Amino acid sequence: MAGGQGSRLGSSAPKGCYDIGLPSHKSLFQLQAERIARLQEVAEKEAGKPAGSVVVPWYIMTSGPTRKETEAFFNKSKFFGLNPKNVTFFDQGEPGRATADGLSLTANRAGTLPCLTMDGKVLLDSTSRVAEAPDGNGGLYAALRAPISSSDKSRTVLSDLADRKVLYVHAYAVDNCLVKVADPVFIGYCISKQVECAAKVVPKTLPTESVGVFARRGDKFSVVEYSEITKEQAEQRDPRTGELAFRAGNIVNHFYTTTFLQHTEAFEEELAFHIARKKIPHVDLESGQGVKPAKPNGMKLELFVFDVFPFTKHFAVFEVARDEEFSPLKNAPGTGSDDPETSRRDLLSQHRRFLERAGAVVKDGVEIEISPLVTYAGEGLEAVKGKTFTRSGVVSSVEELDVLAA
Ligand code: UD1
Repeated sequence: MAGGQGSRLGSSAPKGCYDIGLPSHKSLFQLQAERIARLQEVAEKEAGKPAGSVVVPWYIMTSGPTRKETEAFFNKSKFFGLNPKNVTFFDQGEPGRATADGLSLTANRAGTLPCLTMDGKVLLDSTSRVAEAPDGNGGLYAALRAPISSSDKSRTVLSDLADRKVLYVHAYAVDNCLVKVADPVFIGYCISKQVECAAKVVPKTLPTESVGVFARRGDKFSVVEYSEITKEQAEQRDPRTGELAFRAGNIVNHFYTTTFLQHTEAFEEELAFHIARKKIPHVDLESGQGVKPAKPNGMKLELFVFDVFPFTKHFAVFEVARDEEFSPLKNAPGTGSDDPETSRRDLLSQHRRFLERAGAVVKDGVEIEISPLVTYAGEGLEAVKGKTFTRSGVVSSVEELDVLAA
């Protein structure tokens, strides 16, 4: 999911293209692409298959504001070594969607919806154009059955999954530098549980943390978003342990069976739009001048990707370690949390742990960035056992690691 505008980050470029300041200056997209490449290779070795025979297809959901730049970025970077045939861009949303409560709203093909004033009037972006914003990551489901390109109306993400005989899908937010793309452990767990849908969570530690939390409504799983939970609920604690009562923090990391994705249309009409009160630039109707508001002045309407969870019959929640799997990029540099510096710190700390777990010593202050092409989750580093690292560096092969340790 890479259709968000990243307004909190304060960068106009798509988030996936962002350089979090790693020594290699790799973008988030590149880290993910290289994890896919590595996973394909590990799977080939594991299954005794020839090189190039295992394919993990990658579907990148963009929106009007992120599509062009994302595609150009991939072209310029030669798809980070992946075969372009296995990377598909598609826009969120679909024309013709209407809500069940009579308010008929239709996302255009670029997956955007009009922005509204606090009392529900349409805001103008210029004197001749309506202000629009992406319709939320819940636009994913409709987008899967919309034509991928105008030149071939028959090809959709769902038809492509069927053609490739893909049975299981891993979906995640682009902004997490630690994401284990297509995590075989998670997928294996979900298959063994025979669920149609699942989500990874990390323990939420502070009541104010901006993560949605999983909760059961009756016998149904759902996520209560951080913008909608009450202060009392967010602060409620388990009297036995003192932990937050609602602490299964959503990290936007989901498993689906392809069959489930093929059937979401049946209940999509029941998914409600959520209101996000935001600062929305617009024109003043009297003067025609552009206004950049300092505080929220209007509403964006968004579908949330997790709102399909209550419609599942078999669902699983899978808790993972935060330091291994979740460090989102949300805020501008220097904010102190969920910003480029914390992303960089968390990824490099993980690489240090990979080396230490493999039996190496990494001196204080030494930073070693290991390409995901070398290791997906710490595997394949046996050669560093007993070595000491005293110099920082970027490595893209086990041999380079060896040189750095010498
Ligand atoms: C999201 C989750 C929240 C979770 C948190 C963890 C949703 C609705 N909320 O909140 O429960 O705890 O992440 O970091 O998922 N996106 C699109 N199209 C859009 C809007 C967003 O593709 O129209 C993508 C973004 O590019 C991003 C992901 O969805 O990859 C999450 O969007 P973001 O706006 O960052 O969500 P949060 O408010 O942080």
